[in-house]
Amino acid sequence: MSELQIDISKALSFVDNTNYQDILREVEQQHEVLMSKTGKGNDYLGWLQLPSQISNDLISRIKEDAEEIRSSSELLVVIGIGGSYLGSRAIIEALDKPFSILQEEWKNPKVFFAGNNLNSDYLAGLLKALDRYNYSVVVISKSGTTIEPALAFRIIKNHIELKYGKPNASKRIIAITDAHKGALKKIAEKENYKTYVIPDDVGGRYSVLTPVGLLPIAVAGFNIDDLLLGAKKMQDRVSLKSDLESNPAVVYAAIRNALYRNGKIIEIMVSYKPRFHFFVEWWKQLFGESEGKDGKGIFPTGVSFTTDLHSLGQYIQEGKRNLFETVITAGRPIDEIEVPHDDLDFDGLNYLSGKKLSDINIKAKLGTIAAHIDGGVPNIQINLTECSEDTLGQLIYFFEFSCALSGYTLGVNPFDQPGVEAYKKNMFALLRETGE
Ligand code: PA5
Repeated sequence: MSELQIDISKALSFVDNTNYQDILREVEQQHEVLMSKTGKGNDYLGWLQLPSQISNDLISRIKEDAEEIRSSSELLVVIGIGGSYLGSRAIIEALDKPFSILQEEWKNPKVFFAGNNLNSDYLAGLLKALDRYNYSVVVISKSGTTIEPALAFRIIKNHIELKYGKPNASKRIIAITDAHKGALKKIAEKENYKTYVIPDDVGGRYSVLTPVGLLPIAVAGFNIDDLLLGAKKMQDRVSLKSDLESNPAVVYAAIRNALYRNGKIIEIMVSYKPRFHFFVEWWKQLFGESEGKDGKGIFPTGVSFTTDLHSLGQYIQEGKRNLFETVITAGRPIDEIEVPHDDLDFDGLNYLSGKKLSDINIKAKLGTIAAHIDGGVPNIQINLTECSEDTLGQLIYFFEFSCALSGYTLGVNPFDQPGVEAYKKNMFALLRETGE
């Protein structure tokens, strides 16, 4: 059995079967366009071969640098925004044990993220923590000029230089940026930081399998060989030109486009593991920036169940019928908890005594899927056999590949993001006007 399976049986009934078959053929054609690199944005297809072409030298260097940080630091601050932080955060949080920072086994550096907002309290709180712990910094920006990470880096650079003195501080900073241009590259050269390059043909949101994602993930103590191996397995599986009807990426792209053309314009990514929150955030960026343009696109959003059944559940069940759900499951929990017996049984829950919480979670999932389908919400399921570096590597590549196919089928360039500039222009104009 494959370690990643897609089940669209509970979505197909919401689209006309002939319509689905037609769209499947369209996606199959886009598979050829993607693999022959003849589509829109084809100068940004470097991510396609990352799992198979990443060099052993680069992997060794990443591991060595990660080891050095692990031996010198209790904390790592990853500065970046969008594709420059969401991938590593997604994987680290999906693999990290909840509350590990409060547990005795905190041996690896804890990874914190900065430069993904402009909030003063957030950064001030982080700086106070940095006063107390030994730390290193990985600053990531492909353009090297994005304002949020640039400002955070300016502030943290000042802190780390005061704390360790400039020469020692420089040894604790690694910059990951463009090979040729940008302010970050200039600073790194001037200050003698170690650097890694984000390849020219890999856009931010497709960069998790470059040093952008791999270095922080390795520092956090996770196995980047297995992550890449998983991605490579999926690369081999979805690149195959034969048997496209059962290619999971083709199927996912086809059903999404079929639902979209049937008025389902919002996709809700659902997980029943709070640890998947940032994986869903990564997925939102991947699909939102890739597809939302030219007045088109499925709006990607995410929920964590059962938490959000008590907030958004009402809307999903009975609100406007323009949504569909994609549920990710990833095997059993690491730690099982059984419901204890209670002699008083005032809460009336003794009928659950001895049951595993995870089995109750599964029943909640099945009950919710059935209810939402009855309420007119098509359901796609993506099932991983377990939550590991290997399966998460597969999931990353699966979504990247599906996203490219889906964007091409929609008729957009999935590799640019012209709309992101609009807020920046206004913000810079306001900053210059007011001088504030
Ligand atoms: O996918 C993208 O290209 C963007 O989301 C970028 O990752 C994000 O805007 C950060 O850009 P940069 O890495 O240039 O600072």
